[in-house]
Amino acid sequence: MFAAVSLGVCDRLAAGPAAAHEIRNRDEDPDAFERFLNACVSLGLLNKEGDAYANSPAADAYLRRDSPRTLTGYINYSNDVLWQIWAHLEDGVREGTNRWKQTFGLDGPLFSAYYSTEERKHEFLLGMHGYGMISSPGVAAAFDLSRFKRLVDLGGATGHLPMAILERYPAMETAVFDLPAVIEVAGRFTRGSRVELFAGDFFRDPLPPADLYSLGRILHDWGDDKVRRLLGRICEALPAGGGLLIAERLLDDDLLGPVSTQMQSLNMLLATEGRERSFAQYAELLGEAGFGEVEGKRTGLPLDAVLALKK
Ligand SMILES: C[S@@+](CC[C@H](N)C(=O)[O-])C[C@H]1O[C@@H](n2cnc3c(N)ncnc32)[C@H](O)[C@@H]1O
Repeated sequence: MFAAVSLGVCDRLAAGPAAAHEIRNRDEDPDAFERFLNACVSLGLLNKEGDAYANSPAADAYLRRDSPRTLTGYINYSNDVLWQIWAHLEDGVREGTNRWKQTFGLDGPLFSAYYSTEERKHEFLLGMHGYGMISSPGVAAAFDLSRFKRLVDLGGATGHLPMAILERYPAMETAVFDLPAVIEVAGRFTRGSRVELFAGDFFRDPLPPADLYSLGRILHDWGDDKVRRLLGRICEALPAGGGLLIAERLLDDDLLGPVSTQMQSLNMLLATEGRERSFAQYAELLGEAGFGEVEGKRTGLPLDAVLALKK
């Protein structure tokens, strides 16, 4: 699937069914290309009738670069970055740290690696966006947020979570706060929406005022010490009764499943400073930071939701 996306196979079939020779690039071997397309059929990515190959409905929705629901950013990022990093899983297990230096020679702060080239940054953000578009409507629907007036999504990247929240709560004011490298390009995704953009560092800079903050796939990037620091800063910035909405995968209480969350937790070991956590682990960190009531909801989507209220 990674190679099919990287070779643009589903883009070549966007106009409709075609025979292998009609969509083969000149630098591709005819026999190898046909074998590759046949393998894509058996994987369920393509269908074949007579000589003609066509995108399966799922491939047409998710594996075509121009589709509004495209996941090609996440898949290219998985192919170019994660796949290489996972080749060093054994060393990650031995040393307990991510593999950026070993794989790519990159040694700076975490997100400097993701944003080291414009192309890598674009694929990463496009990837976050495609994946987020699947989960954010469910996260926005997980709790009644009607009492809140202003949401700031910290590390909000392309703004898919505020946009999903605006769909349900059109009167809310919303903003994304992210690193300058992201805010430079986030407008491409938020254009035409009512999502404001602020550049800054959530570990150091003042947080834009809000009565509801959100953190989507942020806490799983960091170890417990940095999570405590960030949650403490958020709690301090909130008025009493203010909220924090968290979108993360939740591990089971016994930490033994679900398997997709286990794999993502290893992915976090290899690519970040963080890990996936259970609801009880989040509740403990939130309690230490000064939050009172904490509620968790499984959404059935790739990300679950937690809402914490400041005492
Ligand atoms: C895993 S991505 C999640 C993006 C987005 N919340 C989503 O769910 O699609 C982590 C985000 O945190 C941002 N980030 C990392 N460190 C940050 C910092 N110190 N201050 C602000 N944003 C930061 C990154 O730029 C990136 O957009």
